Amino acid sequence: MNTPTQLAIPPVSLHEICEADALEVLEFESSNSTFFEKWVPARGPEHFEEMSLRQVIKDLMADPDRFYLVRSGTGELVGRINLRKLDKEPLDTVELGYRVGENHLGKGYAKAAVLAVAEQMRADGAMKHLEAFAADNNPASSNVLLACGFRWDKTGTKTVQLNDNPLTLHRFALTL
Ligand SMILES: CC(C)(COP(=O)(O)OP(=O)(O)OC[C@H]1O[C@@H](n2cnc3c(N)ncnc32)[C@H](O)[C@@H]1OP(=O)(O)O)[C@@H](O)C(=O)NCCC(=O)NCCS
Repeated sequence: MNTPTQLAIPPVSLHEICEADALEVLEFESSNSTFFEKWVPARGPEHFEEMSLRQVIKDLMADPDRFYLVRSGTGELVGRINLRKLDKEPLDTVELGYRVGENHLGKGYAKAAVLAVAEQMRADGAMKHLEAFAADNNPASSNVLLACGFRWDKTGTKTVQLNDNPLTLHRFALTL
């Protein structure tokens, strides 16, 4: 069985999104929107126009949650990973969400980003648990979490609406 230390993980760097990233983020979200919308709720039109996206980014920067860009070893924007519910009960648990550009799938970038965030949270010491929800029709997402040491929490299943269809989400958790 894979454990985090046995994985072949590409180098990535994470940095919190800022206004200087606007044009790259615009290109990333626009070129991948059809792919992402198959799996996660569609972003609003403000994400697909430069001036409104700049305001979205300012709002993210002011938000207590954290929003990171994932860059490859060559500095290319390959994905995004978010830490949500940082100021919500339970205060020792943070929720991860992530996405990787369609051209970069299957190279280990999601796993690298999840492991980097887990490492950062461990070093920070404020949080005890990471959680994430993967849809039951999204094996790539649950594989990422399992490969990074998360466990399926059988009590945490919930149903949401995606594009007007019900979608079952499974909760995965990692104790830091
Ligand atoms: C889920 C997602 C982030 C994975 O990104 P990625 O960089 O390709 O992931 P990785 O390369 O790190 O790992 C993917 C793993 O899933 C596996 N996988 C990919 N597609 C699969 C499929 N259809 N069935 C089973 N396993 C699959 C890969 O083989 C790999 O596992 P392995 O290394 O053990 O072989 C990406 O597909 C994505 O952005 N999807 C749209 C948004 C989304 O679903 N976000 C998650 C919401 S919880």
